[in-house]
Amino acid sequence: MQPCGGRPGKSIVPWASVFTMAAGCALALLLSLASAAQAQQPPAAAIRYDNTTRVFRLDAAGVTYAFGVNEAGELQSLYWGARLAAGDSFPAAHSRPGWASFDPPVNTTPQEFVAWGGGLYVEPDLKITFPDGNRDLVLRYVSHRIDGNRLLVTMKDISLEVYVTLEYQIDPATGILRRSATIENRTDAPFTIEQAFAATWNLPRANDYRLHYLTGRWAAEWQVQQQPVHPGKTVLESRRGTTGAQNNPWFAIDHQGENDPDHGAVWFGALGWSGSWEIAVEQDQVQDVRVSGGFNSFDFGYLLQKGQSLRTPDFYAGYTQNGMGGASRLLHQFEIGSILPHAPSPPLRPVLYNSWEATQFSVDEAGQIALAEKAASIGVERFVMDDGWFGERNNDHAGLGDWYPNPQKFPHGLKPLIDKVHALGMSFGLWVEPEMVNPDSRLYREHPDWVLYFPGRPRSEGRNQLVLNLARPDVRDWVFNTLNDLLNQNAIDFLKWDYNRNWSEPGWPQVPPDQEKNVYVDFIRNYYSILAELRQKHPKLEIESCSGGGGRVDLGVMRYTDEVWPSDNTDAYDRLIIQNGFTYAYTPGVMMAWVTDSPSWANHRTLSLEYRFLSSMQGSLGVGANLNLWTPQDFATAKKMIAQYKSIRETVQRGRLYRLIQPIDGSEQSATEYVGPDGRQTVVFAFLHSSSEMYPYPRLYLRGLDRTATYRVSALDGQLDAGTPQEASGAWWMSHGVYVDLTGDFQAAAFTLERQTEPGRAP
Ligand code: GLA
Repeated sequence: MQPCGGRPGKSIVPWASVFTMAAGCALALLLSLASAAQAQQPPAAAIRYDNTTRVFRLDAAGVTYAFGVNEAGELQSLYWGARLAAGDSFPAAHSRPGWASFDPPVNTTPQEFVAWGGGLYVEPDLKITFPDGNRDLVLRYVSHRIDGNRLLVTMKDISLEVYVTLEYQIDPATGILRRSATIENRTDAPFTIEQAFAATWNLPRANDYRLHYLTGRWAAEWQVQQQPVHPGKTVLESRRGTTGAQNNPWFAIDHQGENDPDHGAVWFGALGWSGSWEIAVEQDQVQDVRVSGGFNSFDFGYLLQKGQSLRTPDFYAGYTQNGMGGASRLLHQFEIGSILPHAPSPPLRPVLYNSWEATQFSVDEAGQIALAEKAASIGVERFVMDDGWFGERNNDHAGLGDWYPNPQKFPHGLKPLIDKVHALGMSFGLWVEPEMVNPDSRLYREHPDWVLYFPGRPRSEGRNQLVLNLARPDVRDWVFNTLNDLLNQNAIDFLKWDYNRNWSEPGWPQVPPDQEKNVYVDFIRNYYSILAELRQKHPKLEIESCSGGGGRVDLGVMRYTDEVWPSDNTDAYDRLIIQNGFTYAYTPGVMMAWVTDSPSWANHRTLSLEYRFLSSMQGSLGVGANLNLWTPQDFATAKKMIAQYKSIRETVQRGRLYRLIQPIDGSEQSATEYVGPDGRQTVVFAFLHSSSEMYPYPRLYLRGLDRTATYRVSALDGQLDAGTPQEASGAWWMSHGVYVDLTGDFQAAAFTLERQTEPGRAP
């Protein structure tokens, strides 16, 4: 007997396939569905191909995505939006007519992946220069394979042996798609790839779209921007050799005028790449809107040898009807469920202490032990020694590259400190910046050619340092071995992996000139391979991605790192804005947030310790203050608030985030709400920035609760209005709302709701 749905090339994943099947098969399938439900398995995704119409359809969670092979053999985009009925079928794809003699149909037909050739004027996904001077490339469908929730579609040039395999994977829980392209050289000569994107995402035609994106700079990352999608092209990018903070590789598009954060259609996506990247949002001459992205095409030129292939970064994208809030909640769920190390159950973040703001480069054994003892006394779970412990690192002019303990500061090596930290019941973390070198270092004196440079040209320094060329296999191996030895010789539980400048003069003179630009890809691949190999050799190791703050946060590095550092700006009010932007794209479960000294080094703002804690408790809590300056009262407050954080940590790090009031557009208040993964606990944080003219704090209408369940409220910090009931229904908290008693500048409050009844059941 044929397997159910067993046409060659057809998915046999159940669920949405049920309706296409013969009765016997459908029955078998329903039985298997029932047993799957019993076993509490996650809902499956479905990928189907209709041989008659030549249409591919992907369904999962709330999303349907469809494209077809049209009469020209192009992959024509058909639909991306809310999930359709299982019985809805798409007609075959037909290319659209061109526009006069100036726009052949290749420009007016929305395509999944299109190469530059045959009169293409819109954004291409692929551009190649061949050794004979030909630069024309026209891809046509060849074959496909469905493998569970993965679809592989192979295209080929009309005459050359150039193959491109598009990969699609749909996440059963969120409907988020992962797409990439693999370009294969089966010709008999090398060729140069000048542009390689992972995918084009086509949106339904509309002329009222609005683009949301994230911009920033050092100490001011994660600024949320929005602008109408106009005819023309908006390019979000990094040309820095790394992810960068100038733009983050994330976008979201909704309809203008949609102001409810939890309603309305949103198409959103993020690239998984920590090198130079590009996302182009284009509204073309016939008003179609497409988003495409991958390697940055500026200065790109990957020499692909015959027989070799190049895989683009992954481009993830999703759809929701639940507004910008819904889009970020889906991304958070996806990151926890599918991206982070140990997904779908990554461990919760421990409360950490970091010495950087307290000591800067003045670290030594006695000083660190003194801080560690104080940190342990307030409930800190991980102690991290930051910069300054190695080589001749007494300031930022020397030492990077010399990864051995400084003999004056640590005469007995790191062991006494690490043992002490462990004895205090904390794990131990260490700061490293492995891809960098100070010219004033042993490493550079021995290997001046290990950095990125063009011979005879200046080597521009940033923070007095140069970038090691990780694309070189010997440099890659040296970095790996150095870190591996450090981890073998010391009981280190955690690395804070920093990266404090971007590229300049990206030369690689040791390879032939036509191969030098491969550095843009090979460097990052080697960076990922070091992270992967270290994790494999040290399975308990955890890593934080940091780049002078939030300059290296993306879905590529997050596959290898457990947490990220969003910004060096640790002022607790500025952090509200930074954290608001960060969580548009990334989960609060990886967003490190330290409580530091007041007044802040960044802006001299003075904030109470409680305010600083409540700001940081909205992410993964850390402490970075100089504990040597704390009063007994500070220690008592910190101890209490760290204990409180531990009681809400799972809700904050794994829950659903609702932005009740955003700290943007001159708002005098902001408030966030986190509903825990099982809905039992909800936490609300409220902040008053300035209290001009004594206007009362607006009533907070909670979201995401069960209207019929009963919830008991308790203040975590600060006051609720005296008239607030102790218990009320979800309907009350959401529709009647709650007042918090905040009246003065830079005040904050937090409260929890604990569900008293089972979901959906009245008391
Ligand atoms: C970067 C990081 C900081 C700190 C310093 C140390 O700026 O973002 O947190 O580690 O480097 O030099």
